[in-house]
Amino acid sequence: MPGRGCMLTLCAAGRATWSACVAGEEATSKPPRDGILFVDHAGVLGGAELSLLDIARHYRDTSAVVLLADGPFRPALEEAGVHVDVLLAEPRLRAVRRSSGVGGALALAAVMRESRRLAERARLYRLIHCNSQKAFVVGALAGRRIGRPVVWHLRDMLTADHFSRIGRLGVVRLANALAARVICNSQATADAFVRAGGRAGLVSVVYNGIDGEAFPPMDREAARRQLDLPAGCTVGSFSRLAPWKGQHVLLDALAQLPDVRALVVGDALFGEDAYAASLRTLCEHHRLGDRVRFLGFRRDVPLLMAACDIVVHTAVAPEPFGRMVVEGMLSGRPVVAADAGGVREIVTDGRTGCLIPPGDAGALAVAIRALLADRPAADRLAATGRAWALARFSRDRMLADFDQVIAQVMCARRRTPAAADAAH
Ligand code: UDP
Ligand code: GLC
Repeated sequence: MPGRGCMLTLCAAGRATWSACVAGEEATSKPPRDGILFVDHAGVLGGAELSLLDIARHYRDTSAVVLLADGPFRPALEEAGVHVDVLLAEPRLRAVRRSSGVGGALALAAVMRESRRLAERARLYRLIHCNSQKAFVVGALAGRRIGRPVVWHLRDMLTADHFSRIGRLGVVRLANALAARVICNSQATADAFVRAGGRAGLVSVVYNGIDGEAFPPMDREAARRQLDLPAGCTVGSFSRLAPWKGQHVLLDALAQLPDVRALVVGDALFGEDAYAASLRTLCEHHRLGDRVRFLGFRRDVPLLMAACDIVVHTAVAPEPFGRMVVEGMLSGRPVVAADAGGVREIVTDGRTGCLIPPGDAGALAVAIRALLADRPAADRLAATGRAWALARFSRDRMLADFDQVIAQVMCARRRTPAAADAAH
């Protein structure tokens, strides 16, 4: 198979990256093959999918994406030149939620059928990358069926806040048995995996990286004019609408800040419509009137962030990573974020941003008031935050770290010929 000699060189030298190596040989072959088959269960544009978009674009000459649901993620991948197929999951599998316990187990027959279909696609590729839990369950079984290594990209905290006990146990056992590696999007995510019973030796931490060029320095008033937004102190929330993302905390804080407006950017992506409706009721309850604007899902986040005085993150459960926190820093605006999970690895309180206890509307109001009252201090915080985000969370660094993990998996595989033989 092409690329094998290259892989041996790579293992010996341990420096070159696997994607560059394979892309160099196979860039002209159609359809793309011999690289990675990326699998994601979602068709929406959540943070996990936006991160995969950058990774899949990087590997597009040799690799492809399979989605288990259709949606705006598909055209976004296609626009990026990525080959994408939708293998619609059976309704029973689609209905499984993170909190499902026994119901999830009952979907086993559907999972087996799905994994058989996926295995057929995966034969063209050397490795299966699973971007979500559901994708991992299906992908792990497909990989075992055809002898391909499977990498699980774990972007969620395996804690009771987010998953049922049976769900955590099942997926961790599967990972211990079948994953060649578990890529975690933060140390907090990695720690939660190990606490849930996952093997520490399987884990590599690869932080999300964001394209800094998408966040050029922008004048606040100019951004507001472009968006036709009124003048006045404005804070922005940039998360999908979900109870654990805690947009209600921002609305509670606004009730204590009569001169502050808010942009609530994001939509209910995974069926949290009741929560979205409850946010509007809360606005009425606090009589916030036109001080709050719900803008739905937007593709112009950098411009919207530039129009804000402060970017806020209000998750009430530990955030696994928090791309919007990094983006807020890149936009050159001071960030106030909930002190838990991966956010602690992004923000140093008082230096690159402000941390508040999760769910504490009073503390959020105090932090917002303090930043608005001392603009020079807020500007210093924002500038340090931006420099840190550019240096530590760049897209290039993420791609290099990711590539390194894939290279390690492939090299380890070549050292175990029995496994490699089974693959061909
Ligand atoms: N986002 C977006 N449009 C919106 C709201 C959010 O493009 O209307 C993006 C946001 O810029 C970020 C991602 O969605 O890149 C959310 O990722 P994050 O890690 O913050 O949270 P997740 O939703 O993945 O839990
Ligand atoms: C998940 C997490 C989020 C993270 C994103 C990208 O959606 O909820 O915290 O930033 O994945 O890894």
